[in-house]
Amino acid sequence: MDAVQTLTEPASRPTDANLIVDARGLHAWYGSSHVLHGVDLQIGRGQTVGLLGRNGMGKSTLIRTLLGHVTQRSGRIVVFGQDASHFKPHQVARLGVAYVPEGRGVFPNLSVRENLVMAARPGRNGRNDWPLERVLQTFPRLQERLANLGGEISGGEQQMLSIGRALMTHPDLIVLDEATEGLAPLIVDEIWRVIGEIRAGNIATLIVDRDYRRVLRCSDRALVLQKGQVVLQGKASEVANSAELSAYLGV
Ligand SMILES: Nc1ncnc2c1ncn2[C@@H]1O[C@H](COP(=O)(O)OP(=O)(O)O)[C@@H](O)[C@H]1O
Ligand SMILES: [Mg+2]
Repeated sequence: MDAVQTLTEPASRPTDANLIVDARGLHAWYGSSHVLHGVDLQIGRGQTVGLLGRNGMGKSTLIRTLLGHVTQRSGRIVVFGQDASHFKPHQVARLGVAYVPEGRGVFPNLSVRENLVMAARPGRNGRNDWPLERVLQTFPRLQERLANLGGEISGGEQQMLSIGRALMTHPDLIVLDEATEGLAPLIVDEIWRVIGEIRAGNIATLIVDRDYRRVLRCSDRALVLQKGQVVLQGKASEVANSAELSAYLGV
């Protein structure tokens, strides 16, 4: 792949003190398969960053590498100024990063209420603005399902539960990997509404979603991965208008 195309001048990037995540030169492997080839990613406080690319280009691997789930990795990962390059997933989570994984992260044998309550903890500086009541107001369907087991509720409700669990950890950054995958249009709209609410509430988000137009509309910045490399990045509006975008996304 040719050189990375950067659409935004460096000055418009967040300054270091404002960075939640500053990752440089990330490589990742599954066994002998080399999947990430030197990826840089910065996420500023309160920023919404869209991560685009066709299937199999390394989006989930980048996320899982950042969060410590892929251990065959190299490069430098700094989270809130701390070197997290060798952190395990729970250590990254404790820095204020919540993860809504592809395929959801719900405990099937615990009730909806238990799933939520066991996730609860105050955020940095004791932030506590997402108590159970607010999560239930945001997702009224969960209110109706509180006594049901996580494994009994619909796919859309599980996704809401997974996002609700993330909010109850009071993160500074929520990473959403294909949060709307396989859901009915009305549920998809509801999830995007909540993503908007999260954004307005000044929590940073890293979003992967098949609906790239919606990702770009909702993001401040965006980057496009191709075969484990960043091939296009910049302000979301610039990426949206880039002549190369459709070629990279195969649309
Ligand atoms: N657990 C795994 N073991 C081996 N290869 C994997 C694994 N997960 C993903 N891959 C491979 O890594 C590449 C990137 O996958 P992934 O990060 O899931 O892409 P995306 O999320 O962009 O669809 C693909 O070629 C995929 O087949
Ligand atoms: Mg993926």
